[in-house]
Amino acid sequence: MAKDKKLTLRILGDPVLDQIAKPVEKIDDSIIDLAHQMLPIMYDTNGVGLAAPQVGVSLRMFVLDVPAPEDEEGHPLPVNSPGEIQLLPQMPMAFINPEVTPIGTETSEMDEGCLSVPKLYAPVKRPEKVMLKATLLNGKEICMECGGFLARAIQHENDHLDGIVFVRRLEDEALEGIKKGLDKILKKNGKPNYKIKRLNKS
Ligand code: NI
Repeated sequence: MAKDKKLTLRILGDPVLDQIAKPVEKIDDSIIDLAHQMLPIMYDTNGVGLAAPQVGVSLRMFVLDVPAPEDEEGHPLPVNSPGEIQLLPQMPMAFINPEVTPIGTETSEMDEGCLSVPKLYAPVKRPEKVMLKATLLNGKEICMECGGFLARAIQHENDHLDGIVFVRRLEDEALEGIKKGLDKILKKNGKPNYKIKRLNKS
């Protein structure tokens, strides 16, 4: 990747968001540079996570800056999983070639949004806990159980590496609820006849 190439946020309808991203083969300067270029793009749009395909780079990597959970008065809430305990204080972080595996059968539903689907939010059901295996920018490998909002953010970003934008996971009603907004986005960014390939539709 040329250093002077300006990365831009890709919006639903852009084919790069539908591609399965390739593994990062070597963590060299270009990967470190990519991570550092992704952060301001994420912060500009008030995001807590951004995957490389969302800036047009089809590589298996994402950045996160998930805040530690707080109550309504801003007091810290306890975190339970090793991932939250160890990773949240280190944010922002980049995760390279992540492997995400659900743990247990518990699921939860929560409204999600995506920087590539501006201003639209809809409920997505996901496993509560996952095992995250990944390489960090310094080459260190991690493997830890993650819960809470961190688990959700990891799954959302990891989905991007498999060409899955969260709208593909929506139930009928949730999809219908944001249909007008989606049509507007796709009219501007999608190819004619662009179809959202839903995952839970048989
Ligand atoms: Ni997203």
